[in-house]
Amino acid sequence: MAHVVVTRPLVEGGLSELREAHTVTVCDPPEGATRSEEELIALADEADVLLTVLADPVTERVFEACPNLKMVAQYAVGIDNIDLEAAEAHDVVVTHTPGVLTDATADMAWALLLAVARHVPTADEYVRDGQFERWETTLLLGTELAGKTMGIVGLGRIGAAVARRALGFGMDVVYHNRHRANPTVERQVSAQYVELDDLLATSDVVSLHCPLNDDSHHLIDAGALQRMKESAILVNTARGAVVDEAALVDALNAGEIAGAGLDVFEEEPDVHPGLVELDQVVLAPHLGSATTDTRMEMAHMCGESIRALVEEADEIPHRAV
Ligand code: GLV
Ligand code: GLV
Repeated sequence: MAHVVVTRPLVEGGLSELREAHTVTVCDPPEGATRSEEELIALADEADVLLTVLADPVTERVFEACPNLKMVAQYAVGIDNIDLEAAEAHDVVVTHTPGVLTDATADMAWALLLAVARHVPTADEYVRDGQFERWETTLLLGTELAGKTMGIVGLGRIGAAVARRALGFGMDVVYHNRHRANPTVERQVSAQYVELDDLLATSDVVSLHCPLNDDSHHLIDAGALQRMKESAILVNTARGAVVDEAALVDALNAGEIAGAGLDVFEEEPDVHPGLVELDQVVLAPHLGSATTDTRMEMAHMCGESIRALVEEADEIPHRAV
């Protein structure tokens, strides 16, 4: 039996399997958006397993202060809030939830893209405001996607799912990765590998799907935005800090790119005030994996990892590293 500390309530019923066999303490959500290291330590100092989300800073100090800790089960695919070197040094297993949120996140990228391309939020507001008095030939003209080029930065599971959808919409797909994807994946989604500068210069849509790390921090900076087409739309459902948000505001204001659909931000939950003022930007509060099905599956995967740990299974499923 393990003592599992869950740092905030999950989807209703998500932890029922886990509760059958373990002591599960579900913490109240933090008062602010994130917890400090001290707050996290106060919750976790006796835990065998800590079930975390991105807003929990699982740092060296947390590992030091929680001597019983054997596993951090991250309720997300991204693990950039966890100090992986410290986890290894303290012999703590880190697991995450890849795969089950791939389609949900790809759908969200497309929801944002279509919303920007066809001015959906503005159109909705227009109708609700009672401004729809007659059909007009030039009202809220948008951008056609068929025949255009989708540039995927990071052809992992989510990037490939976005690419598959792009094929369905009649788009051509190019991609850039740190390491070229395997040829089977390239073929499956008809994606052509190009250098990042070429992707930026030729894509009508640039959609980001890389993890956040030292290489990808501010990958999309002022220079990258300048290389993009003036008609291009940027979509970010990956991590806010892949984009230099201040540079993005400048580029949008200067007309260097046409629009952006953003589910993630550099300093979540804060959003650069310049973005909020722009009609050609559609914003969402980090909803990539936010479907009931996916969130249930994510809880289930965390439970599988925890059970394997307690039962001392040879292999722990869903290990991140
Ligand atoms: C969400 O952002 C995740 O990494 O799962
Ligand atoms: C995440 O699941 C990815 O590899 O894109």
